Amino acid sequence: GRCVVAVDGPSGSGKSTVSRRLAAALDASYLDTGAMYRAVTWAVLQSGVDPHDADAVIKVAGDIELAVGTDPQAPHIQVNGTPVDRSIRGPEVTGAVSAVAAVPWVRQLLVAEQRKLIAAAPRVVVEGRDIGTVVAPDADLKVYLTASADARARRRSAETLADVAATAADLHRRDKLDSTRAADPLQQADDAVVLDTTELGIDEVVSRLLALLDW
Ligand code: CDP
Repeated sequence: GRCVVAVDGPSGSGKSTVSRRLAAALDASYLDTGAMYRAVTWAVLQSGVDPHDADAVIKVAGDIELAVGTDPQAPHIQVNGTPVDRSIRGPEVTGAVSAVAAVPWVRQLLVAEQRKLIAAAPRVVVEGRDIGTVVAPDADLKVYLTASADARARRRSAETLADVAATAADLHRRDKLDSTRAADPLQQADDAVVLDTTELGIDEVVSRLLALLDW
């Protein structure tokens, strides 16, 4: 039948890898909501707008067309027809995304698009910060992934090849912004299964989640 899995947690907790693997195992779609906030941020920077100018950010967000592909083997995202998969992972977007994601109207717009994408998929694994609490409170399984600050910084710097200390500082800065903003802050849903992935491998996490789904 229908199955929606919500995966939330801070950066470097293993969300993306776990969500993609889980979606592939379930033959489900995969929705990366962080990529959508990153794509809006890319458009904001591209148009020369200050990411802290909420009115200007809202105007950019309302004027662009996002196209989101949900194949877990090849997720992709376009802004007005331009693929931005690489550019949204760069330091400029990473530095500005939390400011853009704090604008309530931007969140309303993207949450509405996310709900449409979820409704269109028979099975879907959705990752983000507010999936179990706001986007899909009726999800069949809610997962909250955590890991020590050290482990998260090491994983992320292995991906980006950036310095570990600088990465740790950036994660700390974003975690703080994401969990203290007024609109839909990062938080655990009351009914989420919490998994600390500091000492758990990806395969172990995925097989525990498949077991929880009776798969
Ligand atoms: O890749 P990483 O885990 O570092 O972040 P991401 O999932 O790509 O999300 C980037 C940023 O988007 C986060 O730091 C949040 O500010 C924002 N975000 C959000 O506010 N709500 C979501 N559902 C997903 C991401």
